Amino acid sequence: MSDVPAPIDATKTPEWKALQDHFDSLQSKGISLKDWFAADPQRVQKLSFDLSDLHFDLSKNLVTDETVKLLAALGKAVGLEERRTAMFNGVHINTTEDRAVLHTALRRPASDAGKLIVDGQDCVKDVHEVLDRMYAFADSVRSGEWKGVTGKKIETVVSIGIGGSDLGPVMVYEALKPYADAGISVRYVSNIDPNDMAEKVKGLDPETTLVVIVSKTFTTLETMTNAREARTWLLEGLKAQGAIDGSDASVADAIKKHFVAVSTNLELVEKFGIDPANAFGFWSWVGGRYSVDAAVGLSLIIAFGPQMFKDFLAGFHDLDTYFCETPLEQNVVALMGLINVWYVNFFKAASHAVLPYNQYLHRFPAYLQQLTMESNGKSTRWDGTPVTSDTGEIFWGEAGTNGQHAFYQLIHQGTRMIPADFIAFANTPNPTKDGDQDVHELFLGNFLAQTKALAFGKTADEVRAEGTAEWMVPARVFTGNRPTTSIFGDTLNAHALGELIALYEHITFVEGTVWGLDSYDQWGVELGKQLAKQITPAFHDDEALAAQDASTKALIAYYRAHRR
Ligand code: F6P
Repeated sequence: MSDVPAPIDATKTPEWKALQDHFDSLQSKGISLKDWFAADPQRVQKLSFDLSDLHFDLSKNLVTDETVKLLAALGKAVGLEERRTAMFNGVHINTTEDRAVLHTALRRPASDAGKLIVDGQDCVKDVHEVLDRMYAFADSVRSGEWKGVTGKKIETVVSIGIGGSDLGPVMVYEALKPYADAGISVRYVSNIDPNDMAEKVKGLDPETTLVVIVSKTFTTLETMTNAREARTWLLEGLKAQGAIDGSDASVADAIKKHFVAVSTNLELVEKFGIDPANAFGFWSWVGGRYSVDAAVGLSLIIAFGPQMFKDFLAGFHDLDTYFCETPLEQNVVALMGLINVWYVNFFKAASHAVLPYNQYLHRFPAYLQQLTMESNGKSTRWDGTPVTSDTGEIFWGEAGTNGQHAFYQLIHQGTRMIPADFIAFANTPNPTKDGDQDVHELFLGNFLAQTKALAFGKTADEVRAEGTAEWMVPARVFTGNRPTTSIFGDTLNAHALGELIALYEHITFVEGTVWGLDSYDQWGVELGKQLAKQITPAFHDDEALAAQDASTKALIAYYRAHRR
C-alpha cells in the first residue's frame, strides 16, 4: 500500500458544493458571453495571460470572476499545490506502479545537478549525461562522420516505436519540419500492420538508412516485431546489393552501424544485438507518453540538431517553472485544467476539441489523445477506490481549416457542448500572397471568425434581417456561448512547442488530481494485449479456436474462409 495520502474526494468538499450552487445560479440567470463582455470592459484583460512565447485568451470561456475564484479554491481544497510539489520532488505519486513521476526533471538545466536526488539517483545529472551522449551521436550522424557499413552518410532515419515511443516524436518532427537542416529525413513506423513498414521503407537504400528502435520496455509486441522486420529488410538489402557477405561478422558490423536503440531496458537492447555504446537510456520515472523530451526524442536531435533540442527543453522548463511557482488563481495552466473540470463535471461535456490553426501541428491532436486519455481515462482513484465523478473527456481535433469543412457543424449547432482550444501563430515560415491577399491572414481570419461565432452566435432577429424565410430561421440560428480558449504564439518553433506540450501535460495533471487519479499508469491497455496473444493462434489452431466466445469464433471462421 502506498504512503501517498488518499485522494480528497472533490465532490464532498464545500468548494464543490459552492461551484454547483454557482453553476445553478448561472443557469437560472442565463449564460450570455455577449452580456458578460458588455458588462465588464476588463474581461479580456482579466482573462488574458502571457507566458514566455505564448499568449492565452480565456475570455471566451463560460467563466466569471466568481467561477475563477471558486475553481482555484477547489484546486486548493483537493491539495493540488501539495501534489504539484510532490510530483516535482519525486514522491512516488504513481501509486499503482510505485514510481516517481519526473518528466519535469528531463528539462531541468545541467546546473541543477545534485539538486534532485530521488531513490538514490541524481536525476538531473543522469539526464544530462544521456543528453550529452545523444548530442554527440546526433552530431556525428549529421556531419557524416558516422557512416553506414559501406562508408556512406546516413540520409534517412527509420524510427520504430508505438504510443509514447512514436506519437511524440512524429508530432514534433512534423511540427518543426521547416527547421530540418542536415538533409536527413525521418520516417516513423508504429503499426504492427505490415503495410506500415512496407510503405515506410519503400524506396530507401539500406546503405544510407539508420534504424532507431524506441521502446521504454523493449518488449512491446508491435515494436519488437517491426524491429525484427527492419533488421531482416536491412540485412537482406545489404546482402542483395553485395554490401555485406552475410558472414556473422559482417552482420554484426551492419547492425552496429545501422541500428541504435532508446529504452529503459538496456539488457534487452544488448540481447537484440545492438552495441550498448549505441543505446540511449531513460528511467522508470518517465511515463511513455511523457517521454518525447527524453532519449525518445533521438530522431529529432538527428533531424534538427542539438541546439533545437536544447531550445525545446528550455520551452518545457519555462512552463514547468511558471506552473510550479504561480498561485493557482493567476496560473493559466492550472486554470485551463480546472476549467476543463468545470466543463466535464458541471456542464457534463464529454469531449474537448483541440484545433491547431497551423498545418505543421496536424499530429498534435493525435499526440494529445494518448497524453490525456491514457492518463485520465480511468474509473479508479490512486488509492484503489472508485472515482466519485465523471473523468477523462475525449480529446480530438484536426488542423484548421480542414476541420471547419468536416465537423465544426456539430461544435456550432450540435446538442452537446464541446469546449475547444484554438492554437495559432502570428508568423509562418511560408508567407504567401494570393494577389494582394496575405494567405496567412486569410487563414488566421478563419481562426478568429470561428471563435467569435462560437462565443457570440447569431440571433433569430439577425437571421430574419437577412431575409430568411421564417420556417428556416431556427436552422440558421447560432446559440453562441460555446466555449473556446485561444492560444496565440509568435512563431511555432522548438521553444514554443516545448511550452505547448508541457502545458497539456500539466493540464492533464490538474484534472487527474481533482478526480483523484493516478494519471501515470495505464492498466487499461493490458487486457487487450493479453487476449491478442491468446487469440492469435486460433487462426490456425482448432483447440485455441474452441476456447473463444461465439462472436470471436464467427469472425475467425470468416477469416479462415477468406484469407488467401
Ligand atoms: O499502449 C501502452 C503503452 O504501454 C504506452 O503507454 C506506451 O507509450 C506504449 O505502450 C509503448 O511502450 P514501449 O515504449 O514500452 O514500447
